[in-house]
Amino acid sequence: MATRKFLFVHGSARPDGNTAMLARKAAEQLPADVEQRWIELADHPLPDFQDLRHDDTTPRARPRPEGDNEALLLDATLAATDIVIASPLYWYSLSATVKRYLDYWDAWLETPELDFKAELAKRTLWGVTALADRNEAAADPLVGTLLNTAAFFPMRFGGVLLGNGTRPGHVLDDTEAMARAKTFFAREDIPVARFPFGSSEYGE
Ligand SMILES: Cc1cc2nc3c(=O)[nH]c(=O)nc-3n(C[C@H](O)[C@H](O)[C@H](O)COP(=O)(O)O)c2cc1C
Repeated sequence: MATRKFLFVHGSARPDGNTAMLARKAAEQLPADVEQRWIELADHPLPDFQDLRHDDTTPRARPRPEGDNEALLLDATLAATDIVIASPLYWYSLSATVKRYLDYWDAWLETPELDFKAELAKRTLWGVTALADRNEAAADPLVGTLLNTAAFFPMRFGGVLLGNGTRPGHVLDDTEAMARAKTFFAREDIPVARFPFGSSEYGE
């Protein structure tokens, strides 16, 4: 049985762009006994997220989704030990499809039988992103979003692999990114994520 199961959730607005290439370079280095599953969010579109938490016409507890893209993504998320968010840098942050997938994490918190918060706390979150900007600090909002999201549960957080590129294929010329990709997932003793701002007061 595989010891670790990596789920790659890819959300670019084009299929074989720099983000996907960079993520694949890193994934190539995973040992053979590590399971890999790739999901293209474009192939499994989620409906606009609806926040029903305080809608008094429906019970707060949401039923577990069945037979649709939401169910597929939920099952894949829970089946993974390691969740890799592969998102291009769009407006300094995550792409809309990736952000929407993460918004559904909030819905899954409202399905009591999933025990989603405790389940995710057993998992590790990673990020991979390609950006056109040569200054990697441009990706700070994306890195912060993933770090804080991990800290919420709290999950372990393996960090974000960054690569530079505009046209598809450019990232393969980013020799530093290619070198980082070789060891990115090899990291051991991945720390549990902590909020950089101390603690979070997250109300119901
Ligand atoms: C909607 C959109 C917004 C973008 N915003 C940024 C940005 O804020 N900073 C940046 O460096 N690059 C930005 N880019 C460029 C992409 O990050 C870059 O082309 C990247 O290689 C795209 O990833 P992909 O090839 O995996 O699709 C943007 C591209 C698009 C289409």
